[in-house]
Order: sequence, then structure tokens, then C-alpha cells
Amino acid sequence: MAENLAVRVEGLVKVYPRGVRALNGLSFTVNEGEIYGLVGPNGAGKTTTLRILATLLKPTEGRVYIYGHDVVKESLEVRRLLSYLPEEASAPREMKGVEFIEFIAKLRYTNPRDIAQVLEEASRISGLGKDLERKVKTYSKGMKRRLLLATMLAVRPRLAILDEPTSGLDVEQSLRIRSIIRRYSRSLGVTVLLSSHNMLEVERLCDRIGIIIKGRIVEEGSPQELKEKYGAETLEDVFLAVTGRREAGPR
Ligand SMILES: Nc1ncnc2c1ncn2[C@@H]1O[C@H](COP(=O)(O)OP(=O)(O)OP(=O)(O)O)[C@@H](O)[C@H]1O
Ligand SMILES: [Mg+2]
Repeated sequence: MAENLAVRVEGLVKVYPRGVRALNGLSFTVNEGEIYGLVGPNGAGKTTTLRILATLLKPTEGRVYIYGHDVVKESLEVRRLLSYLPEEASAPREMKGVEFIEFIAKLRYTNPRDIAQVLEEASRISGLGKDLERKVKTYSKGMKRRLLLATMLAVRPRLAILDEPTSGLDVEQSLRIRSIIRRYSRSLGVTVLLSSHNMLEVERLCDRIGIIIKGRIVEEGSPQELKEKYGAETLEDVFLAVTGRREAGPR
């Protein structure tokens, strides 16, 4: 099935073995070229959703299509289309930065020219310069995150799935990560689906956001649309209205 929707999630349900119903009829779509943010309280189901999309977890019910491919029935095809940055990922400690980029590039490409291009692009995007010659174990958290993110974008997936890309980073490192996502998703034509707890971040970064509570999308729109709908000055106020005082509803 050909379509220009990058992601189509329909009625997703995930019940974990001990009966936790993490997703409860979740549906949303992401357009090609868009940066879409999933936000919601701890335990709302963001990571579960992203892991299902990345083919690492099977849904209990519902369907997910990545560029028209079913994540369960066509998982190999889907894996070729995406990069996934887990919530707490790192590169192997004993590898140099540059070796890690090459390792990932070779998983995706065989042509030496393509591999060289990924290496060049990831080096540039990461901004790590000479530090790429050092071992990953000597990197700070922010440097590791930049290495991973830059590599993930440089392989030019059609969809990058980023679980809390700036979690645990200081203000400066978070800004760098955000600017990487913004600049390179556009210029490399990578569609981005990310999760975040930082409202300012999604407000600045995302074309559209979905607010997820107890495994369902309860509100969705561009940051501007949502602020207008709730008569709020910031997305944080929208979030509080939606999660805390839902009975108040939109104005
Ligand atoms: N492997 C697992 N086994 C059982 N329950 C799980 C498992 N992983 C997650 N859960 C449960 O599923 C629900 C959703 O968890 P999930 O990690 O998807 O939330 P989240 O929105 O990513 O939260 P956070 O913002 O804290 O990262 C929670 O109730 C969690 O306890
Ligand atoms: Mg999570």
C-alpha cells in the first residue's frame, strides 16, 4: 500500500504479561516530513508506543503502518525505513566515536561511498570534531547523545523515532540536540516522531503534538492550535488543563 503518511496507528492496545494495560485504543498519524511529539505523564504509554513502532514489541490489538507497511507482518521492511533512539541508549564504551558511526553505517549500507557519506555527515552533525577519535567511555552524557542522534539522522532513515532525546541533559546540550533535530530532519528529509516531558521543547520543535494519557491520545494539534483552543499562553498550561483539569475542557 503506497501512501505519504509516515505513520498510521489504529486502535493500538498493549497489555503486558501481568495485566498492565499500557495502551488502550491509541490512534494517531504522522505526515511525511513532519516532526511529531508525543507528550504525557510518566507511565502514559509513550515508550510502549515507540517500541511497537520500532518493531521491538508486539501489539496486543490494533494496527501500525510505517509508510504503508505493517509493523508486525512486514517488520523487516519497516526496520529498513527507520532509526530508533531508545530512552537510555549508549554506544559501546570501548569504540571510538568514529568507529561507532562506521559500524552503524555498515549495518545499513554496503557501498563504500555511502558509508563514507554517512561518516562525513554524522561527524558534521554531531559537532564532536576531534573528540570522535576518543573512546565513547570518555564522553559526557550529552556527547554520547549527540553521537547517537547524529548517526541516526546521517543514515537517512525515512522515519527517526526518538524517545526523550534530551532527557538528562543540561540546557546547553539540550539546545544543541534540538537544533540538530530541527536542522537536519528538514535538510535530510527525515520524518521525526519523538517523546518528551519538556513542553518548551515540543513547543519549539514539533509541527504537531499528541497528548497521551493512560494509553490514549486525548488531544492533538499544532502547539499554536492547542494554545488557542485552551486559551493558554504556553503549552505547559495546555498540558495542565488536559491532564489535571480535564473536566474543565476546552474553552
Ligand atoms: N516490560 C513491561 N512489563 C510490564 N509493564 C510494563 C512494561 N513496560 C512498561 N510497562 C507499564 O506500561 C505502562 C506504560 O509504560 P511506558 O514506559 O510506555 O510509559 P511512558 O509514557 O514511556 O513513561 P515515562 O514518561 O516514565 O517514560 C506503565 O504502567 C508501565 O508500568
Ligand atoms: Mg518512556
